[in-house]
Amino acid sequence: MKDRLEKTVSYLEKKGFENPEIGIILGTGLGKLIDQIDIEKEISYNHIPHFPTATVEFHQGKFIFGSLGGKKVVVMQGRFHFYEGYSLQDITYPVRIMKELGIQKLLVSNAAGGINKTYKKGDLMLIDDHINLQGGSPLAFKGVSQFGERFVDMLAPYDNEMNTQFKAIAKEHDITLHEGVYASVVGPQLETRAEYRYLGIIGADAVGMSTVPEVIVANHLKLPVSAISVLTDECDPDNLQPVNVEEIIAVASKAEPKLVQLFKSLIKNM
Ligand code: HPA
Repeated sequence: MKDRLEKTVSYLEKKGFENPEIGIILGTGLGKLIDQIDIEKEISYNHIPHFPTATVEFHQGKFIFGSLGGKKVVVMQGRFHFYEGYSLQDITYPVRIMKELGIQKLLVSNAAGGINKTYKKGDLMLIDDHINLQGGSPLAFKGVSQFGERFVDMLAPYDNEMNTQFKAIAKEHDITLHEGVYASVVGPQLETRAEYRYLGIIGADAVGMSTVPEVIVANHLKLPVSAISVLTDECDPDNLQPVNVEEIIAVASKAEPKLVQLFKSLIKNM
């Protein structure tokens, strides 16, 4: 992997991805932050050597470099999911790349289902902790210790300092920002009523199909990470409505300006 990493990084550096300070991963239906960026370079994932190629139709699949709030940022517009058939190592490869390029902090967003019954569709949740239900680890590979310690501590996987700032910014802008536990499942099917009930019992406040692998690798790399979920549907097992992906994306777009505000203010204040 070291060899591949070096080749990818040197390709991106040659293309002008130089000295980014912050990495950002944008989730499903959450691309509008891009409009706020002074873009210097953008490259489709399928042009980047050793990058997995994007498949899900609604993902543009681009790596973007530019400035936001006076900081150099590298942004993943669209991410890779386990349900697309990639390995957990593939999904998290871009996190390792961003770290090698020089980022000091990582911000992540996703669309998620609300398990906590006090949450409403369109609300945001700051992830305080997670439960990995994807049945594997992005760190379970031979030679992992070349890149960091194998037995990574998970006492506080989300950066306390950034989370505290997010809460202050939300308050200032009158944005409801819950704080809770995100459970990651494989998908791509949504959950059964019994599964939603189970997720509530084990302590999840939201459920989605991403983020946890990237956060585990960020912790492996000692890269401070903070993540926010946009709650796109209410997963009450006793009153479950049929969901469709178009609706999930529509709710995500509607709530998106709040997420953009939080990310933009946090970066500006860094
Ligand atoms: N389950 C899993 N992933 C999701 C959901 C959900 O209900 N909503 C948005 N992403």
